[in-house]
Amino acid sequence: MVFLVVAAGVIWSVVRFRSRGLSTTEPRQVFGSRKLEILWTVVPLAIVTGLFIVTVRAMVLIDAPQDSDRPSDLVITAHQWWWEARYPNGAVVPWDIHIPAGRRLRARIESADVIHDFWVPDLARKMDAVPGRWGYIWLEADKPGTYAGTCSEFCGAQHAWMRYRVIAESESDFEAWMRYWKPQPNNEDDIPGSPVPLAVRLFADKCSSCHARTATDESSSGKGPSLAHLASRETLGGGIMRNTPENLMLWLTDPQAAKPGNRMPKIPLTDAERTTILGYLESLR
Ligand code: CUA
Repeated sequence: MVFLVVAAGVIWSVVRFRSRGLSTTEPRQVFGSRKLEILWTVVPLAIVTGLFIVTVRAMVLIDAPQDSDRPSDLVITAHQWWWEARYPNGAVVPWDIHIPAGRRLRARIESADVIHDFWVPDLARKMDAVPGRWGYIWLEADKPGTYAGTCSEFCGAQHAWMRYRVIAESESDFEAWMRYWKPQPNNEDDIPGSPVPLAVRLFADKCSSCHARTATDESSSGKGPSLAHLASRETLGGGIMRNTPENLMLWLTDPQAAKPGNRMPKIPLTDAERTTILGYLESLR
């Protein structure tokens, strides 16, 4: 619109004031116009002032002052390229972030590597995730529902695939979900006659230095997302693909083909080992 208005004015001036004939005298010159000067100062000033007032009002509405004594209700950590939420009961959840609807949560936003930005347009303002700094936002959903979130600060090759969902549910559903993610012992390998000793051993050998396998597994470095309840997730890799056995196998075979640039190296595995680990991952409901 602006381009069209300006272009039309230029064309009109070129045609209207073009030199006619071979006259050598200059056309009439106009110096200054108080009326115009005032007009083009006051009008933009009024527009900017109006926008400023509307913006400040919206900022106050969506970003109530933080109570710095209040402990955070959940800690959200950004990684290249996935998100992780930690709950007060110790659960570490690397995909959908569940919250109780109608309750205002104080979320602490952190980064494990570079600058990211937490953004769920329907629920809260944006907050940068800056390495070495904590940012706090209020996260609140008035009614139950699924709200899409994404990283909104360019953070590397897979910035676009840093998707997550915030799932707001009733208090009772939320409590049930928290019980599902309750702290679990990490000791199947110690149970005599455990049905999956080989798989568990393989996982411990090949995967566990980066990936946890239960909600509160502290034995892994957490460099990669926790694989707790992996089989019940809908997507893999920050939303880049559906969670199917074929796609999971691709991560085991060639992680860089699954999501180019991600931090997972190719793990040397035989076909039999891959099949065993896949079966184990598919059992993590
Ligand atoms: Cu993380 Cu963009």
